[in-house]
Amino acid sequence: MKLQNNTYHIQNIPVENLAKEFGTPLYVYDTEVIKEHLDRFREGFSSVDLRVKYACKALTNMSVMKFLLKQGTGLDTVSLPEIQMGLTVGFQPNDIVFTPNCVDFSEIEQAVEMGVKINIENLSNLEKFGQKYNGSVPVCIRLNPQIAAQANSEKVDWWHKQSKFGISLDQIDDIKALEKKYDLTIDGIHIHSSSVIMSPEIFISGAKAVFNIAMRFEKLAFIDFGGGIKVDVGDGNEVIDVIELGKQLDQEFSVFCEKYGRKLELWFEPGRYLVGNAGYLITTCVVRKRNGGTEFLGVDSGFNQLIRPMMYGAYHEIHNASNANGALKKYTVVGNICEIDNFAIDRMLPETKEGDIVIFKSAGAYGYSMASTYNSRFRPPEVMVEGGQARLVRRRDNYEDLVKNQILVG
Ligand SMILES: Cc1ncc(COP(=O)(O)O)c(C=O)c1O
Repeated sequence: MKLQNNTYHIQNIPVENLAKEFGTPLYVYDTEVIKEHLDRFREGFSSVDLRVKYACKALTNMSVMKFLLKQGTGLDTVSLPEIQMGLTVGFQPNDIVFTPNCVDFSEIEQAVEMGVKINIENLSNLEKFGQKYNGSVPVCIRLNPQIAAQANSEKVDWWHKQSKFGISLDQIDDIKALEKKYDLTIDGIHIHSSSVIMSPEIFISGAKAVFNIAMRFEKLAFIDFGGGIKVDVGDGNEVIDVIELGKQLDQEFSVFCEKYGRKLELWFEPGRYLVGNAGYLITTCVVRKRNGGTEFLGVDSGFNQLIRPMMYGAYHEIHNASNANGALKKYTVVGNICEIDNFAIDRMLPETKEGDIVIFKSAGAYGYSMASTYNSRFRPPEVMVEGGQARLVRRRDNYEDLVKNQILVG
């Protein structure tokens, strides 16, 4: 998003024009920003066979998925409908990985039928997998990333202790026993590296622990480091230098492959890194009021459309597209849900009046995909801007959408 002639533009389209054409609240995705992030993610890697699998749970709009397909990514999915969407968009089954968590084995059976790569994260499903397929269908094993906790970071250690994900490291022998019992074809090792890892050095020391474990599995084709790479949202918090991470991992992975005896693929599953900063929630300031000493700005959206500030305390930069360079004033920005619904407390923003267009940045990931119709409000439309052209890629909900599954009795 660029500031030109006192107003914000997304690929040269004034945000106010987008608001006028499509109405607010509105989600807008800028494909140039997605491409920039993807290029940066790939930049550090020069010698290894890197495969980026877009974690579409972050933003499941199929036009965005198609854009990423055109950029040569695969797909990381966590449910059968996500796989279905991926196939509809045109991803090859082999480029889709299914990484579900705590699902019934029947979902894994259906995913096998759909021909996608299977990632299993508990011993019980691995046993069932062995009983049904033996070694005829390759399987990737998701390990609990407590591996990375060996990198001596208290924060990382804390995170891993909360984690329900993956098979614990003290169960590697159980995995090996199942591998032997059913002649499993374990072709991948997966860890989701988590967003609390901020430095390439900590990441690399976790990766080396993974490589040591990988040496115990003879049939590997890839190692998958998951997602969780944080994006700079302008809150001043540290983020990992992805280019430096790429360079260091490129080297370490090559060393590992040599030791392993053959070249493996290196997979990542970024979601938020690719689409987080590419998305904007465009709203209108509809109410300005003072309560006590607080100056409130009420916008025509709420935590039903962007839950991250209320759920995670997430920071989103806020801008006024109608008065970009106005004198700064302190506001608490709130939504219209009948509960505490804060987007930002005591934020310095250009003077804002009712009718102004208010932009929330970094709303591409886990924005629309976590939206609901709570308070019986319509979910916003989504617009994708590509090649300087804004196109509607999902229309706004309407009343029929809201009630279509209800059965009125009595
Ligand atoms: C296994 C796995 N891969 C990828 C992701 C995507 O994470 P992010 O959007 O933080 O990159 C997640 C997020 O929960 C995950 O659990």
